[in-house]
Amino acid sequence: MKVTFHGDRIAPHGFTLVIIPRFEGEASVGRINPVFPSWLSKPHRDALKRRVESTDFAGKAGQRCALDLDNGSQRIVLLGLGKAPGDAIASALRRVGAAVWKECADLQAKSVAIWFDSGGAPVAKSESSALIEEFFGARYRFTRYQSGKQKGLFEPQKIAIWGLPSLSAKELSTLQSLQDAVFIARDLVNMPPNDCHPSYLVDVCRNLARRTSLSCRVLDGKKLERLGADALLAVGKGSEQPPFLITLSTPKSARKVPIVALVGKGVTFDSGGLSIKTAASMMEMKADMSGAAAVIGAMKALAEKKLAIEVRAYLPAVENMINGSATRPGDVVKTLSGKTVEILNTDAEGRLILCDAIALAEREGADIIIDVATLTGACVVALGTKYAGLFSDDDGLSQTILAAARDSGELFWRLPLAMEYNDLLKSPIADMKNIGNQWGGAITAALFLKRFVKKARWAHLDIAGPAFDESGGGTIPKGGAGFCVKTLVRTVEALAGR
Ligand code: BES
Ligand code: MN
Ligand code: ZN
Repeated sequence: MKVTFHGDRIAPHGFTLVIIPRFEGEASVGRINPVFPSWLSKPHRDALKRRVESTDFAGKAGQRCALDLDNGSQRIVLLGLGKAPGDAIASALRRVGAAVWKECADLQAKSVAIWFDSGGAPVAKSESSALIEEFFGARYRFTRYQSGKQKGLFEPQKIAIWGLPSLSAKELSTLQSLQDAVFIARDLVNMPPNDCHPSYLVDVCRNLARRTSLSCRVLDGKKLERLGADALLAVGKGSEQPPFLITLSTPKSARKVPIVALVGKGVTFDSGGLSIKTAASMMEMKADMSGAAAVIGAMKALAEKKLAIEVRAYLPAVENMINGSATRPGDVVKTLSGKTVEILNTDAEGRLILCDAIALAEREGADIIIDVATLTGACVVALGTKYAGLFSDDDGLSQTILAAARDSGELFWRLPLAMEYNDLLKSPIADMKNIGNQWGGAITAALFLKRFVKKARWAHLDIAGPAFDESGGGTIPKGGAGFCVKTLVRTVEALAGR
């Protein structure tokens, strides 16, 4: 697939598909001709005008107006962008990117031209990236478990873009590789939990290390026992699948550079344990390793860059199940940090595996810790399925993450680490319990994790909402979204001063 940019205004002739994004209420498409691009012949222009009128196309976001020309050898599609340029131009172009892919696939178009006119408003390079990123991203399908569907996906050979700042071949390949990293995460989330268990995540990480500059360390049950990671072990105890704590690290730097730890929740299936979930709420729980999947994807993308920073992934991988040795509500465990926890709800397992991973990350030298987890249903209640929650006491780190997310088209909202609720974690017999009361569950979960961070700068990302798209109504098919891969990569780049 070849992507080219055209700054001049030569006509986009010879393309199977021509996409014209159009702002709402805009009188013209293209400044040269007051109504439609001048490269359209008079009869074509008239036909398009009639089509616009008959379909009431007004450029509203999501609106579409298509016209087939010359016996179907060419199709012109006007895509509504919504209200005029402004801050939202990047997100409008993201939608165009995904829509262009869909148009290409529907028509099996070999070549596509995108004729964009910002109406004179300045367009930044990041806005070209936004369109391309989403175009690449929308290609995703998960067909591994469908008999007979393994053949390659359709791809156009040529994409030509007018009216947007051009990206170099290197920039395009960086976007492509970032998107590949997102696909790795989506595949891991979409895989069924009988195949994607903790040992499988170990294999994935070992293979990744073999192919890249990353090194992989696997702490198994024995080693975790020696370390005293009893909170993590308590979650894995009820499963036939052995638990692991996997680390992936970029090469040690000769200079003194900051160490960033990315900690990803890797519960390959969450039945709730003895505090068992309902049948309906268990159906998505293969996705409870989405945090780990996002970190693995991000590490793959980061491994290809030379950054003035050390990055270490900590991936606690367990299955939360029920057998005769499963953890009971009421059990007390001593965490790796030495603090004791009364486990009153075995379904609040994410914080138990994360607290040991976070404590180990800091003990091993992390200066900055970012954990990513499908941690609470409460976060989904608060923010819905499109926004992830961000918790941090560090304003600088929060701003860095929010900026990285904005550049990635991923939605985050900062929620308070409200110390007013800290007492809800009081246990009558241990240092704390693993649940609060019925209110503010995303906050009490974050407050629980905060207790295991000593000096490091820390942020907690609760991605329970956007990690898994159960509607399939957006730009990606129903299932794993690969959410947070891009935000993590761009956050680390920013922390490395890039
Ligand atoms: N994995 C779930 C959180 C979750 C819920 C993720 C919905 C994605 C969609 C987590 O382990 C969990 O069960 N949390 C409990 C905590 C409660 C018992 C304090 C919850 O949110 O109900
Ligand atoms: Mn749970
Ligand atoms: Zn869980």
